[in-house]
Amino acid sequence: MSQERSVFPLELQDVCFAKGEQRIIERISLAIDRGVRTVILGANGAGKSVLMRLMHGLLQPSSGEIRWCGSRRRADAQAMVFQRPVMLRTSAIANAALGLKLTGIAGAQRSARAAEALRRVGLAHLAERPARVLSGGEQQRLALARAWALEPQILFLDEPTASLDPAATQEVERVIAEIANSGCKIVMVTHSLGQARRLADEVVFLHAGRLTEYTPASSFFASPRSPEAAAFLRSELP
Ligand SMILES: Nc1ncnc2c1ncn2[C@@H]1O[C@H](COP(=O)(O)OP(=O)(O)OP(=O)(O)O)[C@@H](O)[C@H]1O
Ligand SMILES: [Mg+2]
Repeated sequence: MSQERSVFPLELQDVCFAKGEQRIIERISLAIDRGVRTVILGANGAGKSVLMRLMHGLLQPSSGEIRWCGSRRRADAQAMVFQRPVMLRTSAIANAALGLKLTGIAGAQRSARAAEALRRVGLAHLAERPARVLSGGEQQRLALARAWALEPQILFLDEPTASLDPAATQEVERVIAEIANSGCKIVMVTHSLGQARRLADEVVFLHAGRLTEYTPASSFFASPRSPEAAAFLRSELP
C-alpha cells in the first residue's frame, strides 16, 4: 500500500509482561518514529531491559501486541548491542562478520562489509587481532561494528557504555551518533543522565514497569511532567 512509508518502525499496544506473580511491564502503548534517537530512562529494576528485549522480539509479551513497520513479524533489519559484548575466540574482523554470516551473506561480500564496518568504528588497524584481547571500549565498538555491518533499520542498545571509562564512553557515543546519522533508528537504555542529555532526542521514562512519560528530551530535562521523573532527575550526581 502507498501508506507504507507512514507506518511506524516500532509500535507497542497494551504490552504487558509478567513472570509468575510478578508483573514486570504494565500495559505499555507507544509508537516510536524514525529520525529521532530514543532513550529509555528509569531507576534500577524499572523494566528497561525487559522492555528493550520485548521491542527487539527476544521476549514475547504476555498480552498486547508489538508491530515492526506495521507487521507482527519481527523485522530482519534490526540488531541489539548489550552492556557486555560477547566475543568469539577469533579475530576482530571475524567477529565483525559474525552477524552477516548468520544471515547467510556470502564470504567475499561479508569480508568487505565487515572491513568497512571496522573502519567506520575506528578499528581497521586491529582487524586481525584476537577480539578477546581488545580493551573494553574497543570490544564495545567492535560489537557496534558487528551490528552496523548488518545495516539495520533499528539498533537497540542496552547500557552500551555502563562498564567503560569516560574516554572509551566518548568514543562509543561518537560511533552511536554516526550510526544514527547514517539513517539507523537508535533506541537506547542508559543509566547515565549525562549520556541521555548528549544523545537523546526523545525520552521514554519507565517507573515500576509503567510508561510514565514519552516526551522530547528538551522538555523532559527542563520540566518533567511526572513526580517520578522529577525525582529521578533530582538524583543526578554533579
Ligand atoms: N526473566 C525474568 N523472570 C523474572 N523476573 C524478571 C525477569 N527478567 C527481569 N525480571 C525482573 O523484572 C524487573 C525489571 O528488570 P529489568 O532488568 O528490565 O530492569 P532494568 O530497568 O533494566 O534495571 P537495571 O537498571 O538494573 O538494568 C526486575 O525486578 C527483575 O528482577
Ligand atoms: Mg537493565
